[in-house]
Amino acid sequence: MTSAAVANPLLGVEHLSKAFSGVHAVDDFGFTVERGAIVGLIGPNGSGKSTTIDCITGFTAADLGTVMLDGVSLTGARAEQVAQAGMVRTFQNVRVYDRLSLIENVLIARQAYDNVSWWQILAASPACRTAEARARDRGRELIHLVGLAAMMEFPAAFLSYGQKKLLALAMTLMSDPKIVILDEPLAGVNPTVIRRVATLIRSLNDSGQTFIIVEHNVQFIMDHCSKVVVMEQGRKLAEGPPALIREDERVLHAYLGKADAVAMELAFHGR
Ligand SMILES: Nc1ncnc2c1ncn2[C@@H]1O[C@H](COP(=O)(O)OP(=O)(O)OP(=O)(O)O)[C@@H](O)[C@H]1O
Ligand SMILES: [Mg+2]
Repeated sequence: MTSAAVANPLLGVEHLSKAFSGVHAVDDFGFTVERGAIVGLIGPNGSGKSTTIDCITGFTAADLGTVMLDGVSLTGARAEQVAQAGMVRTFQNVRVYDRLSLIENVLIARQAYDNVSWWQILAASPACRTAEARARDRGRELIHLVGLAAMMEFPAAFLSYGQKKLLALAMTLMSDPKIVILDEPLAGVNPTVIRRVATLIRSLNDSGQTFIIVEHNVQFIMDHCSKVVVMEQGRKLAEGPPALIREDERVLHAYLGKADAVAMELAFHGR
């Protein structure tokens, strides 16, 4: 990582705060994401990870704080504006359109980012038809990439939970985003799909895609992330490369007595 990349991060979040009826879900939290990084965001249940993601992607209004993406302020921006600026996310509870086919799902995902205006769509203008054909090709390519090509025209309802997570990942990629944020991509997913997700993230990252990954699978985070940010009770407990986080007694302590303690212990001392 060059000093320029560190001085000029792709994403910078500062002083982020969000309370729900007096509960400080996120409390003066900040972190940076460097270009081309895979940043892991971990922390015990209820530590504020999803609320952080909801706030920076405009799905929840933050009480305080600033968000800068690639030199552009996204502070207070709505979800569509954040997506158009190049930051897209998946949800902890996977969201796909069950009644629509896989290809229709990815095409819907892309509509939010298109520059084709309503009158061009109504008139089925050449610009619109070209955009449509291009999007369909890209959609097919992405469904192939996530390994679901055999089910291209099937309703998404036919997919397993893990396959829906793969489809959700393909949907984020339709807009050629600057940052993809995955909220618990591995939860409820079998080991085969976990391996597929790992391979996909690695190969996309090799081509320059930046990721933020929220996960309780600490081993996965330690193995694949260039930097790990640890939250506890809405605040930042630690931030650094996996090798340093692994040695940080405060982090292990934060997990003690929690359901994640065993995973954390394994990630710290299991090799
Ligand atoms: N919409 C809401 N209304 C009230 N409280 C909320 C809301 N969303 C989150 N919280 C509270 O904010 C805190 C942080 O929750 P959040 O979902 O961000 O944690 P998390 O780190 O993502 O947890 P998990 O690992 O279980 O997904 C928790 O105490 C939670 O109960
Ligand atoms: Mg969460």
